[in-house]
Amino acid sequence: MNITVIGAQWGDEGKGKIVDYLAKDADLIVRFSGGANAGHTIVHGNVTYKLHLIPSGILYPGKKVILGTGMVIDPEALFTELKTLEEQGVPWEGRVFVSGRAHIVLPSYKKKDIEIDKKRKRPIGTTGRGIGVTYSKKSMRDGLRLVDLFNPDKMSLMEEADRKFLEGFLVRLKPMLVDVTAYIQHNRPSRMLLEGAQGVLLDLDLGTYPYVSSGYSAAAGAALGAGIGPRTIDGILGVFKAYSTRVGNGPFPTEFIQERDGKLEHLIREIGHEYGVTTGRPRRCGYLDLVALKYACFSNGIDGLVLTHLDVYDTMTSLNACVAYSIDGEETTDFPMGLPELERAQPVLKEFVGWHEPITQVAHFDNLPQAAKDYIAFIEDYTGTKITIVSVGSDRNQTILRREPWTKY
Ligand code: IMP
Repeated sequence: MNITVIGAQWGDEGKGKIVDYLAKDADLIVRFSGGANAGHTIVHGNVTYKLHLIPSGILYPGKKVILGTGMVIDPEALFTELKTLEEQGVPWEGRVFVSGRAHIVLPSYKKKDIEIDKKRKRPIGTTGRGIGVTYSKKSMRDGLRLVDLFNPDKMSLMEEADRKFLEGFLVRLKPMLVDVTAYIQHNRPSRMLLEGAQGVLLDLDLGTYPYVSSGYSAAAGAALGAGIGPRTIDGILGVFKAYSTRVGNGPFPTEFIQERDGKLEHLIREIGHEYGVTTGRPRRCGYLDLVALKYACFSNGIDGLVLTHLDVYDTMTSLNACVAYSIDGEETTDFPMGLPELERAQPVLKEFVGWHEPITQVAHFDNLPQAAKDYIAFIEDYTGTKITIVSVGSDRNQTILRREPWTKY
């Protein structure tokens, strides 16, 4: 039984917490996309772990994790992250593996990434982690894979400075290198978790292009990015927040605007701690966008939704969600493919009664306030997809399970 976990919005939906939660019962966790642009926060009691490259399953003792083929890996960032984990008391040696087919982010790529974005008339707002440059090199067939580090021919063609930089990591990287496809073929893990990064709307093909990242964060990227066949995957979970956020530039139809929404953006940002884990940038905040969520559900074949940050609405007496877009006076519930249409789209909002009470200690779905259950039921009905997990706080135990995740969907 293998499950893919993806972000169903613009990233930062709480995938880290959900992968950590599900990892308890997984034999192997493989991250399939992105690089150190991602930021996954996991809270255990009063300890907060911030992961960028390492799969979120690492916090369970003994679990093996793989940085998959679809990832782009900055060796410096990797070992910095491993050192921080070690300092936080998480042993990792013998548990963290890296696909030899994954591509390497060189220091010059990070600089280039920032330079290119600065020169754009309409910058994307990259995290500056060299992601776009590395994926472009890969597509151009000029990239450098981890396995190439042990190929003297390839290394001899490299610039002196890059070769020296990489040589500093060879001894530490060698025991971590794995042919992930062969590993899975030989070890036949009975429960594998495929962890995505970013979200559907930042996917290179399905997202709000060109305001996207350069990897495949959609569910379809999981098979390639882990090096397995698509039919090996039995279930796809899409994680989304009770509202929406976006970091960086690009269209965001439900973004809060002061004239209409007053201080809501500020309020949600502070209650939800909506600041980027990687860059510290304040996240743009907005209403839950059901048009976009329905698009994410269909285009990814999401079997079950995971609703996070529901507790952020605890103090509100009412809340809204977007149920259609109005574009030049015409209403639609289809997510537009054109940038100008997305930029002109006005959200058609539906108001919901708030529950106006704390839900952070609720452990069973039946004990949620009726107003919260109504909000959930509406989302399920609109998207045609069941909400299988509800998260009401950042800790592992603030998770309401509505369906056994490791069973066929
Ligand atoms: P890049 O992948 O760093 O080039 O960034 C491209 C766009 O994706 C920018 O708008 C970033 O803010 C956004 N982005 C990249 N990674 C994440 C993430 O993990 N969460 C949210 N936004 C992200």
